[in-house]
Amino acid sequence: MELMFTEEQLMMRKMVRDFAQTEIAPKVESMENGEFPRDILAKMGELGLMGITTPEQYGGANMDFTSYIIAINELSRVSATIGVILSVHTSVVTNLILYFGNEEQKQKYVPKLASGQYLGAFCLTEPSAGSDAGSLKSKAVKDGNNYIINGSKVFITNGGEADVYIVFASTDPTLGSKGISAFLVEKETEGLVIGKDEHKMGLHGSRTVQLNFDNMIVPAENLLGQMGDGFKIAMANLDVGRIGIASQALGIAEAALEEAITYAQHRYQFGKPISNNQGVGFKLADMATAVEASRLLVYRAADLRTKGLTCGKEASMAKLFASKTAVEVTTEAIQVFGGYGYTMDYPVERFFRDAKVTEIYEGTSEIQRLVISKHLNK
Ligand code: CAA
Repeated sequence: MELMFTEEQLMMRKMVRDFAQTEIAPKVESMENGEFPRDILAKMGELGLMGITTPEQYGGANMDFTSYIIAINELSRVSATIGVILSVHTSVVTNLILYFGNEEQKQKYVPKLASGQYLGAFCLTEPSAGSDAGSLKSKAVKDGNNYIINGSKVFITNGGEADVYIVFASTDPTLGSKGISAFLVEKETEGLVIGKDEHKMGLHGSRTVQLNFDNMIVPAENLLGQMGDGFKIAMANLDVGRIGIASQALGIAEAALEEAITYAQHRYQFGKPISNNQGVGFKLADMATAVEASRLLVYRAADLRTKGLTCGKEASMAKLFASKTAVEVTTEAIQVFGGYGYTMDYPVERFFRDAKVTEIYEGTSEIQRLVISKHLNK
C-alpha cells in the first residue's frame, strides 16, 4: 500500500498523524461531551487542512484528492467527529462551489472556506426526502432580485456552526428532480432558522441540526450553477463525497483493529495472552483482512478521482464495503475486549457508536447498492 503513495502524500500523512495525536486526541473527551471542536478546526485551517484540495489561487494547499482522503483517514482514526466535519466541508461544500460556482462566488467564499474562517454545510435531506432526495419539497420563488425560500431540512451536518450553507430547493415543482436548484446561503440570512440539535448515538462533537427556511431571502446572484441543475450538482458531488465517508469508516475500523490487537496481546487468561487462542486470533485475522480490503477499495476510488477519471461506481463500492467493515470490526473489537469493551473506559464503544452512521449518511448502504447496480446495467 505504501508504494501507491508519493513522497508528498507520505509526508502529509505523517503531518496529519502527528497533528491528530498531539492536538485532537487530548480533546476527544470534551468532544464526546458535546463540545464543538472550533479550536481544532482553526488549527487545521492554519495547517492547510480545511482547503487541502483547493487551488492556491483560492488560498488552498492545492494537494491532490488522494492526499485529502489520506487526511480524512488519519483524522478519523483518532476522531470520526473531525473526519465528518472535514469531509462535508470539503467534498460537498468547497468542492461544489469550485466546480459549479461562478468566479465571483468562488472569490467570495472559497478562500474563507479554505482558511477555516468559514465552515460549510450541505442541505439536501428533508423530513420526507431522505434516500429519495429528488422528491424534496423546499421551494424557491423568484421575487425581483431575490429568491424567497420556504421549507425545512433535517440531519444537516455542521448546521448551526457553519457560515455558508448550500441549500437545495425546487424552483419548479412540476419538473420533479429537474426543477431543483442550488443556492449559497450565508449564516446571517434573514429567515434561516436553526432548529433542533439532534442527540445522536455517536459523533458527539459534530453538530447535526434541523433547519427551517421561513421566507428566507436569498439574493438571485447566489444561485449556484444553472437553474434546474441542483439535483445533478448534488449527485455528482455525492459521487466523490462518498469516498470521504468511506475513508472515515476505514479510519474507525483501523483504530478498532489496532486497539483489539493490543488488548488481545496484553490480556492474559488461562495463563496466556488471549491472542494466542485461535478463537481470538482468527477473529483478528478476519478483521485485519476486511480492513485491508476496505483500504484497497478506498484508495482505488481516490486514485481514480485524482487521475480525473469517473469513480461513481468505485466510490459507492468503497463506501458500501468500508462502512460494513467499520460496523463489523468495531462490533468484534468490543467482543475481544469482553466486559471492558462495553464500558466507556476504553475507546472501542465509541468506535462502535461512530461506525454505524457511515452505513447511513451520504446515501445508505441500500442506496450504494442501487447506484452500483445502475452502473452494472449501463
Ligand atoms: N451524477 C450526475 N447526475 C446524476 C447522478 C450522478 N451521480 N445520478 C443521477 N443523476 C441525474 C440522472 O442522470 C438524471 O438526469 P437525466 O434524466 O437528465 O439523465 C437525474 O439525475 C435523475 O436521476 P435518477 O432518476 O437516477 O434519480 P433518482 O431520483 O432515482 O435518485 C438516487 C437516484 C441514487 C437514489 C439518489 O436520490 C440518491 O443518491 N439518494 C441518496 C441521497 C443521499 O445520498 N443523501 C445524502 C445527504 S448528504 C449527507 O448525508 C452528508 C452528511 O451529513 C455526512
